[in-house]
Amino acid sequence: QLIPVILSGGSGTRLWPLSRGAYPKQFLALSGEHTMLQQTWLRVAPISGRPLVIANQSHRFMAAEQLRQAGCEPAAILLEPTGRNTAPAIAVAALQAMAQGEDPLLLVLPSDHVIADEAAFRRAVTEAAPLAQSGRLLTFGVVPTAPETGYGYIKAVPGDGLRPVERFVEKPDLATAEAWLAEGGYYWNSGMFLFLASRYLEELERFQPGMLESCRQALAKARRDEDFIRLDADAFETCVSDSIDYAVMEKTDAASVQPIDAGWNDVGSWSALWSIADQDGNGNAHHGDVIARGCRNTLAWADGRLVTLLGLQDVVVVDTADAVLVAHRDRVQDVRGIVAELKKAG
Ligand code: GDD
Ligand code: MG
Repeated sequence: QLIPVILSGGSGTRLWPLSRGAYPKQFLALSGEHTMLQQTWLRVAPISGRPLVIANQSHRFMAAEQLRQAGCEPAAILLEPTGRNTAPAIAVAALQAMAQGEDPLLLVLPSDHVIADEAAFRRAVTEAAPLAQSGRLLTFGVVPTAPETGYGYIKAVPGDGLRPVERFVEKPDLATAEAWLAEGGYYWNSGMFLFLASRYLEELERFQPGMLESCRQALAKARRDEDFIRLDADAFETCVSDSIDYAVMEKTDAASVQPIDAGWNDVGSWSALWSIADQDGNGNAHHGDVIARGCRNTLAWADGRLVTLLGLQDVVVVDTADAVLVAHRDRVQDVRGIVAELKKAG
C-alpha cells in the first residue's frame, strides 16, 4: 500500500509578490491549468491510495477545495497551527498512517514541483518500492546541472544494488557545490522520499526523540472534524523546527538513492519558473497581458494589469494588485531577503 504524504505548508517566499503568506505557490497555477498541489496529486493518483495532506490551518479551505476539484479524496488533511518545517510534518503523517495498526509505504511529496515526464516519475517510484519495503529510506536523486546551493546533495556508492547514500549534505555553500559538480557522482535531492512509516519514525526516535514526542502529543490531542485533523497547538508549538533533510537524511545510515530522470524542476525562484515557461525566440517568457519590444531574456508576469517592457535584458517584472517586483535575473534568489525585511517591518 502506497500512501502519498503531500507537504503543502511552505510559504514559497522566493516567488513573491505572486506567492504570499495567504496564498503560497503550491496553491497557484504556475504552469498549466492545475495548481501545483493539484498536479502533485494527479501525477501520483494512478499508482497510489488516498493521500495524507499536511498544510497550515489557515489554508485548509483552499487545500480541501483544490483537492476536491482535482478528484482527490484525501485520507485526511492534517492542519498545523504553525509550520515546524518538514520533519515534524512527515512525523505526524507517519503516526496517522500507522494509527490503524498498519505500516504503509509513505511517498513524501513536496507540493511545489514540476515534473515533465510523469510516467518516468511513476516508474521510479515503482522501482524504488522493494528497497523501501525492505527498510531503506529512499531519496529520489536528480542529476545536477548547476551548482545550486538551494538543494541537498547526495553522493551514492556506485555499483551496489542498495545504492546506499555515502553522504547527504543539505544546502552546501557555492564552492562545495561547484567542487562536487566537477567531481561527479553526486545527485540533487529532489525532496521526495519513500519509506515505511515505521522506519521514518524509528530514525526520528534516534535523532530527534523530543520532536517525535511533541508530534505524538499533537496528534493524540488533535481535534477532528470531517477530513480535517487539527493538531493540538500547545503540543505542536513545543516541537523543534527542522527539515527532514537535516533531522534525518543527513544522519541516517539507512538511506538509499533512487535516480530519477523525469524533467524534475523545483519551481523555487523566478528564474526556475522562467526556465520551464514557454519562451519566444529571444528568451522572453511572458504571462498575462504583456507587451514587450526589443527585449531579451525577460520574464514578465502580469496579474490583472497590462505590463509593457521596452529594450530590457535579463530583467524580471512581476506585477500584482498591491506590489511590483523588478529585478535583475541574477538576483532573484534575494527576493527571500526582501520578504524577510517586509515581515520584520510588519
Ligand atoms: N506541512 C508543511 N509544514 N509543509 C512544509 C513545511 C511545514 O512546516 N515547510 C515546508 N513545507 C513543504 C513546502 O511547501 C514544500 O512543498 C516542501 O515542504 C519542501 O519545503 P521547502 O521549504 O520548499 O524545502 P527546500 O526547497 O528548501 O529544500 C528541500 O527541497 C529541495 C528540492 O526542492 C530539501 O529536501 C532539499 O534537500 C531539496 O534539494
Ligand atoms: Mg522547495
